[in-house]
Amino acid sequence: MRFSTLWSLSISFFPYQNRVLMKNLNAMHNGFTLGIYVAKKVTISLIKCDVGSLAGHHVVPKPLFDIAEKKLEKAQDEGIINNFFVFNAGDDLELLMAHENGEQNSDIHKLAWETFKEAANKALQLKLYAAGQDLLKDAFSGNVRGMGPGVAEMEIEERASDPIVVFAADKTSAGSFNYPLFRMFADPMNTAGLVIDPSMLCGFKFEVIDTVEDKSAVIQCPTEMYELLSLIGTVGRYAISRVWRASDDLICASSSVSKLSLIAGKYVGKDDPVMITRGQHGLPAIGEILAPFMHSYFVQGWMRGSHWGPLMPVGLKNSKCTAFDGPPRIVALGFQMANGKISCDDDGKPLIADMFDDPAFSIARHEAVHNGMMLRRMGEFEPARLSAEDMEYTTIQTVLAKMEKRFTPLDKS
Ligand code: F6R
Ligand code: MG
Ligand code: MG
Repeated sequence: MRFSTLWSLSISFFPYQNRVLMKNLNAMHNGFTLGIYVAKKVTISLIKCDVGSLAGHHVVPKPLFDIAEKKLEKAQDEGIINNFFVFNAGDDLELLMAHENGEQNSDIHKLAWETFKEAANKALQLKLYAAGQDLLKDAFSGNVRGMGPGVAEMEIEERASDPIVVFAADKTSAGSFNYPLFRMFADPMNTAGLVIDPSMLCGFKFEVIDTVEDKSAVIQCPTEMYELLSLIGTVGRYAISRVWRASDDLICASSSVSKLSLIAGKYVGKDDPVMITRGQHGLPAIGEILAPFMHSYFVQGWMRGSHWGPLMPVGLKNSKCTAFDGPPRIVALGFQMANGKISCDDDGKPLIADMFDDPAFSIARHEAVHNGMMLRRMGEFEPARLSAEDMEYTTIQTVLAKMEKRFTPLDKS
């Protein structure tokens, strides 16, 4: 174990009255001894970047995966990370890492940055499309936030059994997670546990970021549910970045809220978001976390980051954008944390559940195609295209500036 490894010892008194259940739990989870639980602090970092893709902005090809896997394997051997899983959401390369360095750690961010740099160089050699698209700065400055890549991180004290689901979406933006996060953690019509589980009656707290004015507020549900909705319904401006259980501030969701357009000052691709959620045992069940995606809903993004489009939940095999550069897609990967690592099989391979690779989401996929076709029939007419305000950082501004010169004042006589 490295010197910097953080362990914290906390004595937890089991909430269970049921002795048999306690005994089973003790047998199941070797972190428990005589009611004393050694809680390990571990950080889950999901860092993503569009470093270039195959056939336009379609999909991350294998040579880029190979580079990322090699690089992270080396970091694992060196003890920088505990383990990892590399995947893609359309044209975004996604690095899922478990480590003990805490959030916003410069070693971890540097590792991600260098991995993306190497993959971008390979993309350049292969003449893949938009090589290095999201690497907006030349030199690494200690934290990838504000440099192009998207980041969701969550430091947790591992529970006896800690089920996690990470989400990654392509051709959309941070506010797209407002709707499902509200359904998961605030809507009793989605999450039965808010009504049925006494440990969830306390509700949840939401950190909302105002991405335009760079400020945040913490809002508690159910008491301030309507106030929360008044903000997060404006998905182009407000984005939920964190969720905690109100009774004990247990962290249960963390999402990326970067706005690439605002970083670069012009349209440079959409800030395709990532999110980490934690479920079960006093939190929404994994099934409640996934339930909001049984229907498709509209998000900002799609073609040229300038249109409303239906979000389509897909398995990894369909994590690639095609029609009108979409429809916007989302993947969900489930796993368990085990002693600081993503739980692995006997060969050390992370056990990953591809949650949306399931017929339960086929109606949502069908809806996405159907509703997407309806929007596409409208072409460049609002509401298929984003509002003028939301188009502010897109290339349409150059076209509008040119057209501005063609206008002459109306004759008021
Ligand atoms: C959206 C996206 C694509 C591109 C579109 C035009 O995030 O990346 O929809 O905006 O394919 O791309 P360029 O301007 O590179 O031809
Ligand atoms: Mg791209
Ligand atoms: Mg993308």
